[in-house]
Amino acid sequence: MAQDFQDFIDEVRERNDLVEVASEYIKLKRIGNRYAALCPFHNDKKSPSLSIAPDKQLFYCFGCNATGNVIHFIMRMENLEFYDALKFLADRAHLTMPEPGNPADKKKREELADKKQRIYRINTEAARYFFRHLAGDTGKEAYQYLRDRGMQNDTIKKFGLGYAPEGWSNLLDYLKEKGFSNQEVFEAGLAKQRENGSYYDVFHDGRVIFPIINVQGNVIGFGGRVFKGDGGGAKYLNSPETAVFKKKENLFGLNLAKNDKSDSLLLMEGYMDVISLHQAGIGNAVASLGTAFTPEQARLLKKYAGKAILCYDSDQAGKRATLRAGEILTEAEIKTKVMTVTDGKDPDEFIQAKGPEMFQVLMEQAKPFLTYRIDEVKKEYDLDDTEQVIEFLEKAAVILSEIKKPPERELYLKQVAKLAGVSEESLKAQVNNLMRTRTAIEERKREREERRVFEERTGGRRDMDAMRLNNAEEVLLNLMLDGGVMKKVKESGLAAEDFTAGVHRTLAELFWQQDAERGKEINHHELLRQVPENEWTEASRIFTTDKRFADKEKAAQQPVRILLDAKGRKEQARLMEEGDLVALDRMLKQKKK
Ligand code: UTP
Ligand code: MN
Repeated sequence: MAQDFQDFIDEVRERNDLVEVASEYIKLKRIGNRYAALCPFHNDKKSPSLSIAPDKQLFYCFGCNATGNVIHFIMRMENLEFYDALKFLADRAHLTMPEPGNPADKKKREELADKKQRIYRINTEAARYFFRHLAGDTGKEAYQYLRDRGMQNDTIKKFGLGYAPEGWSNLLDYLKEKGFSNQEVFEAGLAKQRENGSYYDVFHDGRVIFPIINVQGNVIGFGGRVFKGDGGGAKYLNSPETAVFKKKENLFGLNLAKNDKSDSLLLMEGYMDVISLHQAGIGNAVASLGTAFTPEQARLLKKYAGKAILCYDSDQAGKRATLRAGEILTEAEIKTKVMTVTDGKDPDEFIQAKGPEMFQVLMEQAKPFLTYRIDEVKKEYDLDDTEQVIEFLEKAAVILSEIKKPPERELYLKQVAKLAGVSEESLKAQVNNLMRTRTAIEERKREREERRVFEERTGGRRDMDAMRLNNAEEVLLNLMLDGGVMKKVKESGLAAEDFTAGVHRTLAELFWQQDAERGKEINHHELLRQVPENEWTEASRIFTTDKRFADKEKAAQQPVRILLDAKGRKEQARLMEEGDLVALDRMLKQKKK
């Protein structure tokens, strides 16, 4: 990369303080000389695992290992490629982007942009092709199938539904005529390649086609559903990931739902659910694309609505998906409700059978996600049975302890106490206990990890810690000339090998060979004679610096503590290395006392 472009990158970094930029997205909490936050790059809901070092302008998450500088932060946060993230930050700092110095970079970027455009065009052509087939003779059965499922012509048009006829190269042939190569169709995710190198249509076994359109209105991929008998293949087949189709980052129907007046989006499981709802006039329905709901989708959703209503199928799988999606949405600070549609297999069937008014009623009855969670747990227990009440309370307390905002927690706590017929005080005590334990565990985990990461990053232990320990050792080595101090140090459990290798260790070993006695001064000249030449200057400095402590034994207490602490950390690291959780737990408990 040309130097001037590298300089520009540096300037962008300098003009965009990571702490400032990050705080526009997430809530930062200052802890000492760093900041902590819930990591926006993974489902981080308990203790903040993202750590930002303002001096180094780096972030690191010990949960998902996301790391980097402010540009990387924006790449992940805004879902941008490097160059676009750079531009984003340049704009933020009112800097003008220069043309990148390296022609290769520029070329690569232009090539990618070209490729994307080309894929959009291929997809658009394909969508037209499928649509025409649905209207034509070949698509009669598929069309009838959609009509039988209650799809009106307007709806079919609005969603651009289509039919991919049976055959291995219908689309490939068609697109070739339009001037696209097999390789290009392959890159658009519409063809696959055989071992012998030849290509065939992805959608070749006669499927109803659902084009997937992003918010900019580009066709990015397709879903295809079998509709007759038992075709053998999967019910739905979706385009593979391509340069323009990232399943995890898009929502089906958002291109339409984004224009809805409602301040919430209705999150559904399937294509058909979304289509039926739109047809029934409920225009804020979207669906994740055959994958579990992702944090990326939550971020996308948040751009268009502050609230979400989860409307998944009410079967076991749907419930599980509801819990998971609810967590992710809550994490992204999106107010989430859950509606339950029990009549019919799924919301699509419900609305076709009962009509939009009935659906609206259910929507109005949607419960806040937390209430839903608690209700789901409650269902597992018979609250007339004391034993079961206790178990219910244990589970509910865990949920309550995860609520971050105190007033919210209190409100739900009241509800649960009432449900279970116990006093708020006793439940509160239980919840507080859980919260304390959790905080303690996570704080320890965080500290350990943070230390490890920054040690790795800075190629040694953290400067501050190292300095503190170094000072403590020096002071102590000096004070140990006093026989009384030496005795105390030995009694504390410290050993010579707890001193840092080098001159400190050398001296410590010499001290440990002494027969220390209270009130007796150890002859430091004697010691110095045994110190190797290269360590002599340092050693003598340590001994000759006059510390002038009135009460040497008392003065030794703090450095002893610091050394013991470092020793404990080393021990802890060793136990973690060996995976000795029992010993580790014992050690941590010991420490707490
Ligand atoms: P459903 O099986 O609930 O589908 O799967 P649906 O949309 O309600 O379709 P109908 O009503 O049976 O026609 C929900 C979603 O999961 C994805 C699709 O996105 C589907 O819409 N899915 C399902 C797949 O990606 N592959 C499959 O094989 C099945
Ligand atoms: Mn369905």
